[in-house]
Amino acid sequence: MTEHTGRPTSRPTSYSRVTLSRIMTAVDVNLYGTVHGGVIMKFVDDVAGAAAARHSGGIAVTASIDEIVFVEPLRVGDLVHAFAQVNWTGTTSMEVGVRVEAERWDEVSESAPVVVATAYLVFVAVDAEGKPRPLPAVVPDSPQDEGRWREAEIRREHRLARRDAIQRHRSVT
Ligand SMILES: CC(C)(COP(=O)(O)OP(=O)(O)OC[C@H]1O[C@@H](n2cnc3c(N)ncnc32)[C@H](O)[C@@H]1OP(=O)(O)O)[C@@H](O)C(=O)NCCC(=O)NCCS
Repeated sequence: MTEHTGRPTSRPTSYSRVTLSRIMTAVDVNLYGTVHGGVIMKFVDDVAGAAAARHSGGIAVTASIDEIVFVEPLRVGDLVHAFAQVNWTGTTSMEVGVRVEAERWDEVSESAPVVVATAYLVFVAVDAEGKPRPLPAVVPDSPQDEGRWREAEIRREHRLARRDAIQRHRSVT
């Protein structure tokens, strides 16, 4: 369904929420014995991509990952959950926020899940030819989601300003 503007109907934040869970295994570790950052990055991209596809109702590609913070190491046996939701939408692009939490295999009954990473990714909804297509606006569900929307706007301004500044610099060098 579309609004009279031709833009798809808006959707609440909750529509896009996705959780992925898996247990870390021996093939996921680096030379130090903790989980490789690249494994976590792929997990983050996977869950964010699922949220973006659900919100946009079709194909969405990763345009940028500009902030990923590793807070705590992951270990073999940890049960890891990645939570994603669309925080902000433009015309064809959207920001997806991801939080990764772990239940330590040897401390499950004793402690709350540990936040191990957070990330912000930009996805662009594309058509079958790979061209950007309009996506539904996201409508924040709660004051917390409204706060996430405003913070996402700040990040977008910085992202685009940095890209423009670098392009200007390259055009004169
Ligand atoms: C992402 C992609 C479709 C954008 O195409 P484009 O022709 O540059 O698109 P436009 O300049 O028209 O921008 C489209 C939207 O993306 C945003 N955008 C483009 N590049 C961006 C970037 N680096 N960071 C943040 N936003 C970006 C624009 O601001 C615009 O948003 P809006 O419509 O909400 O205002 C294209 O660069 C691409 O296909 N990249 C490869 C994607 C890929 O292979 N990802 C990995 C596998 S999924």
